[in-house]
Formats: sequence, structure tokens, C-alpha cells
Amino acid sequence: MTNSSPVVDAPGPGAPADQVVVEVRGVTAGYLPGVDILHDCSLVARQGELIGIIGPNGAGKSTLLKSIFGLVKVRDGGIFLNGEEITNLKANRLVAKGVGFVPQTNNVFPSLTIQENLEMGIYLRPKGLAERLEFVTAIFPELGRRLKQRAGSLSGGERQMVAMSRALMMGPHVLLLDEPSAGLSPVRQDEAFLRVKEINKAGVTTIMVEQNARRCLQICHRGYVLDQGRDAHTGTGRELLNDPKVIGLYLGTLGQDEDD
Ligand SMILES: Nc1ncnc2c1ncn2[C@@H]1O[C@H](COP(=O)(O)OP(=O)(O)O)[C@@H](O)[C@H]1O
Ligand SMILES: [Mg+2]
Repeated sequence: MTNSSPVVDAPGPGAPADQVVVEVRGVTAGYLPGVDILHDCSLVARQGELIGIIGPNGAGKSTLLKSIFGLVKVRDGGIFLNGEEITNLKANRLVAKGVGFVPQTNNVFPSLTIQENLEMGIYLRPKGLAERLEFVTAIFPELGRRLKQRAGSLSGGERQMVAMSRALMMGPHVLLLDEPSAGLSPVRQDEAFLRVKEINKAGVTTIMVEQNARRCLQICHRGYVLDQGRDAHTGTGRELLNDPKVIGLYLGTLGQDEDD
């Protein structure tokens, strides 16, 4: 197994098991009364999988993540975590059950130091602090070296690392990431994708929304294409990358094999 392949290794021994960690079952959800944004939307993430959600702007990608995390009202259908129904549970209950969420923006406390941000991530279980700090600073060593620095003084890429680390402090079973590469330079985007891959390889089932569809499909085990609040296509990352319909409608020239 080499690191040079852009596509995550095919499932095999030690790779994703069959156990379903997150199931979104026929979910209809929305913000305003009478206005549904998601329509009968379904998704499954199995143990150890890295799942990508792509689709045009406004397709409902963020809404889907927010509905898993109890931030958007689910009106029909259900959400299940390891077989247990978690539909419309409040975010703090979900964190305690092992769901981590990194929103796209405003995801760090700028006036707090890196360490304080990480401590906020584990306030529900402060005894685990030292062990979890060790885990996240092994994945993000540059944060470990600068724990006393204020998050507000960090670059966009570094803040994204703090946000992901904070969500990892509780040792989540599943991590929900909303556009981890947004707003970053191409080099920093690559770095963000590598870190997401590392987090996933450490055993964290991960559901990632991305506007950078091609890069996302290259690293995810399976992907879902959302269009107008519906799950329009699903397949392995490689299948979707090579699917003419997906290329034509959602990847455009980004579907061709060009370098970022
Ligand atoms: N807080 C909100 N209140 C009302 N409508 C919203 C809100 N957030 C998003 N929407 C609407 O939901 C739809 C899907 O948005 P979103 O899930 O953010 O799409 P994506 O993440 O795929 O770009 C859009 O039509 C958007 O205008
Ligand atoms: Mg979004």
C-alpha cells in the first residue's frame, strides 16, 4: 500500500466493516414551515468509511449534515447511529453519543488559545483530556507545538485543523465535516484532504461535504451526489469520478484528470 495513490485502498481485510454507523433513512427536512430542503434523502456510512457528499451550491449538502446533527428539523424519515434512532436529538446529546461536527465557518473560538479550543471540545468528559490531546496532536503535530497561541492569529488552514481537532477530542464514532477545504489555497486544500484521510485511517467513520468534488471523490470510499435536496447518485468514489452523467452534470471539466 503506498501513499501515492489518490484513491483510498479498496475495501479488504482491516478496511471498512459492514456495520452501519450512520443511517439517514428517507429524510425530509427544512428550515421554514412548509419549505422542504431535503426530500426523501438517504445515506449510509459503515464502520471506518470515508463518505463524500458532493453537489451544486444550494443542493442541501450542509442541510443534510445539519439534520444529522440535530440543527435542522427532520420532518419525515429518520436518522440512526449504530442502530439507535437519533432523529432531532439536540447537538449536546449527539456529541455525548459520539457524533462530532465541524461546521464550515465560525468553527473556532478566535480569542481562545489552541489548547483552550481543544479543551472546549471535551468539556463533557474532562478526565480524558490528556489522552485525547495526545491523539489529536499526533495527527496535527503543528498544533501540539503551539498550544498557547490564540486561534484568531492562525491561518485559515490552521484554524480548520483546530476545528477538526476540537471535534476529535471526544473520540467520536463519526465525524461530520462541512467543506474542510473551503477558502484554502490549493496547497492547503491538499493538506486538509490528507489530514481527513489520516483521521479516517485512525478509525473514525467520516462524512465529508465538499465543493471540491473531484478531490473529494478521489479520497472517499463512497460518495453521494445531492441535487435539489435528493440523493441523485451514489457509488464508490472511483465509480462516480468515471460516471459520464456525474462528470457532465456535477464535475464539469473538474472530472477530467487534470492537476490542481
Ligand atoms: N438557515 C437557513 N434558513 C433558510 N433556508 C436556508 C438556511 N440555510 C440554507 N437554506 C436554504 O437551503 C438550501 C440548501 O442550502 P445548503 O444546505 O446550505 O446547500 P449546500 O450546502 O449544498 O450549498 C438553499 O436553498 C438555502 O437557501
Ligand atoms: Mg454548504
